[in-house]
Amino acid sequence: MPTPPLAGGTAGPTHLRPLLDTVLTALHHGAARRNGPLPAGGPATVTQHMHDATHPLIPDHGTGAHHALRTLVTALAEGAADPAHPHCAAHLHTPPLALAAAADLAASALNPSMDSWDQAPAASALETTLTTALAAEIYPHAPRPDALVTTGGTEANQLALLLARERHGPVQTVCAANAHHSITRAAWLLGLPRPVVLPAPTGVMDPTALHDALTRLDGPLLVTATAGTTDTGDIDPLNHIADLTTTHGADLHIDAAYGGPLLFSPTHRTKLAGLHRAHSVTLDL
Ligand SMILES: Cc1ncc(COP(=O)(O)O)c(C=O)c1O
Repeated sequence: MPTPPLAGGTAGPTHLRPLLDTVLTALHHGAARRNGPLPAGGPATVTQHMHDATHPLIPDHGTGAHHALRTLVTALAEGAADPAHPHCAAHLHTPPLALAAAADLAASALNPSMDSWDQAPAASALETTLTTALAAEIYPHAPRPDALVTTGGTEANQLALLLARERHGPVQTVCAANAHHSITRAAWLLGLPRPVVLPAPTGVMDPTALHDALTRLDGPLLVTATAGTTDTGDIDPLNHIADLTTTHGADLHIDAAYGGPLLFSPTHRTKLAGLHRAHSVTLDL
């Protein structure tokens, strides 16, 4: 068996180009067949269609790169929930920019392994520059702001609770009912007390309820506020909350997984006023 062509090296782009052509044509055909934001039929129809298109999924003899790509990508695109469709009201996931998808291709072809410098020299340097620049967006006046790339908001929130535990020992987390469930999950995973969850009838954290809780509770406290709630995109009153945590000597984490990118909008970044007062911030690009 000849070795299949590789994506990297000087020959990689030449090998990739015809395959990309097949993928792009299949993406087009799949979207045209779907002709809407969602595939026709429900889960049973889509499951049957995927089974028919891909069975046997691990064949004894392959059908060749182009045929396999065409079949699989067409079926996936036809059965996709497509956030780029004008009638798609996505939960949270965004329509990727063509630019971003093209950049992903470069990352896939180079496959930088970020666990050590010798496996990803340039990408490691870029990661350092990127994390420093992102941290400076949030903490423009801090002397050496820093950030860490995680697998997503869940891990970032867990890291925030871990850092608070490192600073203070077993901290008591205080959040509002609008917080993402990863906060409670993180406390559980880290063996911390179950978070005190304040009601949020208006959709955001109530500063009066927070004041009462911080007055009542003992021990090291970590308040986690949300900038951009999962369901409605609401932003907690960050400055008010930061005033209270300062007064009561509590630490503050802000989960800006959803709302954080407002920082890149000259018009809307003021909605995040007070973000820099948090000890840690979750941001999801
Ligand atoms: C506010 C908020 N925080 C955290 C998360 C968790 O992020 P991820 O799904 O990347 O782990 C989400 C996900 O929807 C979120 O909306």
